[in-house]
Amino acid sequence: MDCPQRRLAVLAGHLGASSSGRAGPLSAAPCAGGVSSSATPARLLEGQVAIITGAGKGIGEAAAKLMAAHGAAVVCADLDEQAAQVVVDAIQDAGGRAIAVAGDVTAAGFAERAVAEALRAFGDLTILVNNAGYTWDGVIHKMPPEQWAAMLDVHCTAPFRLIQAAAPAMRDAGKAEADRTGRPKPRCIINISSTSGTHGNAGQANYATAKAGVVGLTKAVAKEWGPFGVRCNALAFGLIDTRLTRAKEGGESIQVGGKEVKLGIPSADNYWASIKGQIPLRRVGSAEEAAGTILALAAPSLSSYVTGQVLEVNGGSFM
Ligand SMILES: NC(=O)c1ccc[n+]([C@@H]2O[C@H](COP(=O)([O-])OP(=O)(O)OC[C@H]3O[C@@H](n4cnc5c(N)ncnc54)[C@H](O)[C@@H]3O)[C@@H](O)[C@H]2O)c1
Repeated sequence: MDCPQRRLAVLAGHLGASSSGRAGPLSAAPCAGGVSSSATPARLLEGQVAIITGAGKGIGEAAAKLMAAHGAAVVCADLDEQAAQVVVDAIQDAGGRAIAVAGDVTAAGFAERAVAEALRAFGDLTILVNNAGYTWDGVIHKMPPEQWAAMLDVHCTAPFRLIQAAAPAMRDAGKAEADRTGRPKPRCIINISSTSGTHGNAGQANYATAKAGVVGLTKAVAKEWGPFGVRCNALAFGLIDTRLTRAKEGGESIQVGGKEVKLGIPSADNYWASIKGQIPLRRVGSAEEAAGTILALAAPSLSSYVTGQVLEVNGGSFM
């Protein structure tokens, strides 16, 4: 049997089986009229439209595929046009709905364009995941102003601009529904923070400050827009296996603002080995596991009474 839902279930199944071979977060629903298992959960984001920034790679890619497998139409926004398109193609091949929006989230006009594309393609916007970002590490006494400012731009100002651009579709629409019926439909914003923001990290004063800023932004939005049914939460990830945390010697870099920034952690193997003993689960997390927590927070059926929170997803570190 083949049908879009079956192919999406397969995609979700692939995502569920993480690189470490552990069982994944969730799978998608069976085909209508197909073989159904009572253990198979329903699709959690049916009818929703999501913008996910940084959806071309890593956590954003995994989130885009998982959310599409759960019924959301997805706008995959990324600096890397080709990577975003590969993700869109995979979602569409699996029977899902997605478009790519290429561009730098820090660029003037990007936020308005991403929101306009979501409304043009899918007629709504109910979920915004502010995930795009990178690290540009350095010690405080040697950090030039541009290195400091770049982190605040990408991790704080860009999410603020996207939230502001989404206000008519999310806040104003929710307010109109609340005024009319008293029951605005579910909408939510998820901002990606980091345990560097919630606990600090040597060599990351710029990143840690920016990721702490995201927490303040999250709580302010939750308080301003909660009355209109818009939830806003942050996820503070610990060590997740993506190019940001793999060996810097691997040569990964990002071209942003006309500059190349090298990504990764120097001698990451040693770092991972040294830090694993401090993680109660004794391992790093996968992008798919991180995506599972984004899905869980986005799903109204699971998290409708959760707002203004910062959930640490870190294998139990910092308890
Ligand atoms: N990997 C971790 O351990 C970890 C831990 C805590 C927080 N985070 C956060 O999770 C988010 C995703 O990181 P990841 O680990 O998946 O990294 P990644 O490099 O695998 O993916 C990030 C994606 O964001 C895109 N991007 C970066 N800057 C952009 C910009 N200015 N405009 C548009 N797109 C941009 C990149 O092109 C890439 O596709 C980031 O905000 C990161 O800070 C990651």
